[in-house]
Amino acid sequence: MNLDNARILVVGAGLMGAGIAQVAAQAGHEVALFDTRDGAAAAAKTKLAATLEGLVAKGRLTAEAAAATLTRITPVAALQPVDLVIEAIVENLDIKRALFAELEALLSDDAIIATNTSSISVTALARGMKRPERLVGMHFFNPVPLMKLVEVVSGLGTDSHVAQAIETLAARWGKTPVHTRSTPGFIVNRIARPYYAEALMLLQDRVARPEMIDACLRAAGFRMGPCELMDLIGHDTNFAVTNSVFAANFYDRRFTPSLVQQELVDAGFLGRKSGRGFYRYPEGAPALPALGAKPSRPSARRVVLHGRGGIADRLAAALPDVERQSSEWTGLEVDRLQIRLTDGRTANQIAALREFHAPVVVFDLPLGDGGDLACACSGNLADHLAWLAVLGFTPRPMVDTPGLIVARTIAMLVNEAHDAVQQGVCSEEGADAAMKLGVNYPAGPFEWAALWGERPIVDLLDALDAYYRGERYRVSPYLRNLLT
Ligand code: NAI
Repeated sequence: MNLDNARILVVGAGLMGAGIAQVAAQAGHEVALFDTRDGAAAAAKTKLAATLEGLVAKGRLTAEAAAATLTRITPVAALQPVDLVIEAIVENLDIKRALFAELEALLSDDAIIATNTSSISVTALARGMKRPERLVGMHFFNPVPLMKLVEVVSGLGTDSHVAQAIETLAARWGKTPVHTRSTPGFIVNRIARPYYAEALMLLQDRVARPEMIDACLRAAGFRMGPCELMDLIGHDTNFAVTNSVFAANFYDRRFTPSLVQQELVDAGFLGRKSGRGFYRYPEGAPALPALGAKPSRPSARRVVLHGRGGIADRLAAALPDVERQSSEWTGLEVDRLQIRLTDGRTANQIAALREFHAPVVVFDLPLGDGGDLACACSGNLADHLAWLAVLGFTPRPMVDTPGLIVARTIAMLVNEAHDAVQQGVCSEEGADAAMKLGVNYPAGPFEWAALWGERPIVDLLDALDAYYRGERYRVSPYLRNLLT
């Protein structure tokens, strides 16, 4: 199946369909664009003409290429027989099924139908089709011309050659295709759930403010913190996706939606678009108070850097002159004080186990090059936080909470990705590519696991599991098996 010169019909000329038509036409395909709404296809083409003109004005596209792209797009008043149909209509199972029935009456036997559905099972969509093997998911991300990821989704009946042909086509269009089985949320919307869920959990327990959570995750390399991101996506949309993944997993409690978000939706505080979500707009997230000048290194009789692996090496780079021991825990020992990377236990839990309850500071997973880093103390140890500043971070004390902010979030993303691989949803490389390209994560879950180590991640999740006692933090069997 070679789709290099395929004639394409895009059905649905809305936000996604228009973008898909543009990308296909820019790659040289003849594209027919159809929409049931009168004038919608023509309007999409007019809008595209303006967009392309803008790109020409900025020197990003030649006038000839823009004109050629436009001439390849033809708004049509009825469905057409073509080699490939890409469907981007309303997200409704029955309406999509009805469209496929209409299309099958028109199309030749070897024509392919690709659906851009973001949440409906491709397996379910194919039911009732004469040729279910020709239906495949081709899940683009918004905005289509800019986002590199395409999830290529196989339903139970999808012919592997059909999926392969769509992967090849997406790559030819300059996209990065990642293959996935049709399971709830596919790759990105599934693995990303904990990014929101952990923040919502911290908010529900009232242990951190939204601006603190956002600042710490931004410092870890995320473009946006989870709270400002939910405000941008819209709480109604984000809550709906969470609910659909929860229901589609037979109400597995790991995917339980949050009352905090439900309340925002109930109030109509939907985020940016309604002027208020976690924050008020246009102001957005308030900045955390700046810290004074970087404190000088406090005096100590003995300082030892403990730990091995990627995180300990990063800390060692900031303190090259101190003694190093490859211990089970990671962090600094300053006389009797321990300043430790969180292992999922609270500072107080660890201190209670130490001789004379010697004091403990726990700090969050330091993924970025400095910046805000959550920490918690077993006692009044404010003076000792200067050590975190010496390590290059801005210490941000919070309520003594297991897994703090970044560590619990990353551990849960890693856990979900391992579950997805275990269940044959995608490959490890596929999960990494999907999260980096689909939601701009600074690294993929398997890259984080390699840096931090599987053992500390499992230990952290087990500690959270023991602390909260629910199904939420159960470790993926695939992840745990890597330890043996
Ligand atoms: P949209 O509402 O902007 O566009 C949908 C278009 O389909 C409308 O112009 C509508 O008139 C047309 N339409 C509805 N029923 C039709 C039919 N039976 N035949 C022909 N045209 C029909 O929606 P959007 O956002 O473009 O979404 C389209 C699809 O893409 C949905 O399945 C959605 O889940 C999926 N998607 C959306 C993303 C997003 O960020 N908006 C991201 C990835 C996928």
